Amino acid sequence: MKNKINNLLKEVEAFSAENPEQLEAFRIKFLSKKGLVPALFVDFKTVAPEDRREMGQLINTLKQAVQNKIVNLKDKLDEQPVSQSSGFDLSLPASSPLGTRHPLAIVRNEIIDIFSRIGFTVSEGPEIEDDFHNFTALNFPKEHPARDMQDTFFIEKDPDLALRTHTSSVQVRVMEKTQPPIRTISPGRVFRNEAISARAHCIFHQVEGLYVDEEVSFTDLKQTLFYFARELFGEHTKIRFRPSYFPFTEPSAEMDVSCNICGGKGCNICKYTGWVEILGCGMVDPNVLEACHIDNKKYTGFAFGMGIERITMLKYQVNDLRLFFENDLRFLKQFESAR
Ligand code: PHE
Repeated sequence: MKNKINNLLKEVEAFSAENPEQLEAFRIKFLSKKGLVPALFVDFKTVAPEDRREMGQLINTLKQAVQNKIVNLKDKLDEQPVSQSSGFDLSLPASSPLGTRHPLAIVRNEIIDIFSRIGFTVSEGPEIEDDFHNFTALNFPKEHPARDMQDTFFIEKDPDLALRTHTSSVQVRVMEKTQPPIRTISPGRVFRNEAISARAHCIFHQVEGLYVDEEVSFTDLKQTLFYFARELFGEHTKIRFRPSYFPFTEPSAEMDVSCNICGGKGCNICKYTGWVEILGCGMVDPNVLEACHIDNKKYTGFAFGMGIERITMLKYQVNDLRLFFENDLRFLKQFESAR
């Protein structure tokens, strides 16, 4: 018996497997119920008492050697490529890094989040718009310069189709379909025929908002936008309104926030004024409500619109708008932690 075990020990030592099947056959030969090791334990019962100690140790050594061999060979086989012939190793971990959200998407989602907390829904509409939804319903006089070739990418004359110049067009569509109360924001891509520079692009992104109900006042507008500015830029943010003009709102205003870089003391971002402009707003012009079949004696509303690029530039101190469109990984990677 001693000789038999020693021979088996040699066999185990010399064994090597080229594939998992060979290794499994080896395991079955030695360790399965009817294998050699259990058989030795059966024979062990017939061993003379004075030899038992030695023989018991020897069988255990063999069993241990088989188990070690299996573990070592398994590790070796696992390291080999699964399919050497095709040249692909499908078991290798992927080497490409995880993607990150684009900074414009991060800020857009944050804006949506802030407004949905106070009951605004999100609406979307087509990027190719007709003249009615982009201009006429919004009270643009026929000769208004915004309709000029300078600003608008026209597609067709009849029917009059163009790339939308703002997402106010989406709000016209919402008002056509729904009666007040309406509380909605419309994020989306807009197009203007402008020269591309560090501060402007022919494609950019907006979030516009609309609130129509009975007795909506300028106070509601101010308080809503004050809440928004503090949520986005921090609780110490101040706001101020300057009178402005838009065809679709009356009165109209532009809203500035206290510069979030210098805290209002003055720096090159706010051009040493302490304030930065972030959006246009105003009370919806009664003509717009009428064009959308909403009773302008009963209802009033406010609207606002902002460029996501501009807000992202302020929030993350990006000084060139073109960076948002170049997909340079060195730029995008910096937003990994902002997800
Ligand atoms: N639609 C305007 C723009 O694109 C922004 C705006 C929206 C202004 C609503 C006032 C009210 O510039």
